[in-house]
Amino acid sequence: MTLSLPRAARPLRGCVTLPGDKSLAHRVAIFAALADGDSTIRNYPDSGVTRAMRGALETLGVPSRLEGGILALTGNGMRPFPCSGVVAHCGNSGTTIRLLAGALAATRSSAVLDGTTGLRKRPMNRIADPLRLMGASISTTDGHAPITVSPAPLHGIDYTLPVASAQVKSCLEVAALGADSPVTLHEPGPSRDHTARMLRAMGASVVSDGLTETVHPAASLKPLDGSLPGDISSSAFLLAAAAIVPGSRVTVADVGLNPTRTGVLDVLFSMGARISTENEHMEFGEPVGDVTLEAAPLHGVEIAGDLVVRSIDEFPALAAVAAFAEGETVVREAKELRYKETDRITAIVAQLGALGADVSELPDGFTVRGGTLKGGTAHANGDHRLAMSMAICGLRAPVSVEGAEILNESFPEFEPLLSSLM
Ligand code: S3P
Repeated sequence: MTLSLPRAARPLRGCVTLPGDKSLAHRVAIFAALADGDSTIRNYPDSGVTRAMRGALETLGVPSRLEGGILALTGNGMRPFPCSGVVAHCGNSGTTIRLLAGALAATRSSAVLDGTTGLRKRPMNRIADPLRLMGASISTTDGHAPITVSPAPLHGIDYTLPVASAQVKSCLEVAALGADSPVTLHEPGPSRDHTARMLRAMGASVVSDGLTETVHPAASLKPLDGSLPGDISSSAFLLAAAAIVPGSRVTVADVGLNPTRTGVLDVLFSMGARISTENEHMEFGEPVGDVTLEAAPLHGVEIAGDLVVRSIDEFPALAAVAAFAEGETVVREAKELRYKETDRITAIVAQLGALGADVSELPDGFTVRGGTLKGGTAHANGDHRLAMSMAICGLRAPVSVEGAEILNESFPEFEPLLSSLM
């Protein structure tokens, strides 16, 4: 599918609510499967990656029902998954394969986890190595999927993660539930902490102290009942669109505001956009609220350090905004972007470059000089976030995005929601 958004004839205006957060959706599905009893989750998103997660759980013997945005799932408890020796397909979802590996190890289950060619390229030793230190029986295919997990007793470890990765941290947090003693994890940066918050809500003991976390074994988990906050990562495309169209004022209501995810708001604010939040409350142990962005003159910024970790999925959208800001934006200390759905450093530079923007690649980031984008044809590269980011450039220049159907992986509602603001 080729997507060409119409040039914005007037400012974007309005208020939207978004489907539930994808990271939380993955976690509620897996943790509900490990709980004792029936879980009910409202505002559950229906997209490529959440279908992959639910499909993999069904293959393992834990089916779920999704009707009218409500997910119903009966847990199997902290016992081996009912279907043993199966091949569970995780689609294109890194969160699915890495968290499921932890769940299989914790429950002493036996299964193979596999996925698309894209997923097979992503590094899996980052979970296999520490799981083996815990005693897990896990083999990879040269450090990649397919991954085979077999039953083995687990013990506690004290482990320092080489990179700040919530998928690795969460895999080990889940595995820790089935160990014979606590697991202590130290991480180099503040990756998203959804797993710790949710496991606590389910009755597990997870003690956090700065960048260190200790997870205690748990014989059982309470089921979940609640509503997922809107996905801040999806909201980033709408907020970025509003930021680059002068005069815009857009509100995204009931969106997740976990501080480990709000780096995108901090960056947009530091670039000059006016941002305010209100109606803050808690849902699933997570802060939620309404975010309003008012467009204002934008300027380039430097992004590095913890801010990279707190906005790790938002660099495609932020790169698009940088293309319309005055001066240069520099992203550094962001080498992890090379291990996402695609090598996002190379892909952002190639695709913004194809649209005529003045961009350059750094070993651990990239630079964008604003005001240089002319328009043209970009390719999504099999990356849902790249597709939406290049598409919003079309609000300001003639842009076509090829392979844009990939956006259905995470945000099928992108085009209708954006149109409702135009
Ligand atoms: C995620 C963690 C991040 C993020 C991904 C979702 C999660 O990946 O990029 O989209 O839900 O835990 P890493 O853990 O590889 O940084």
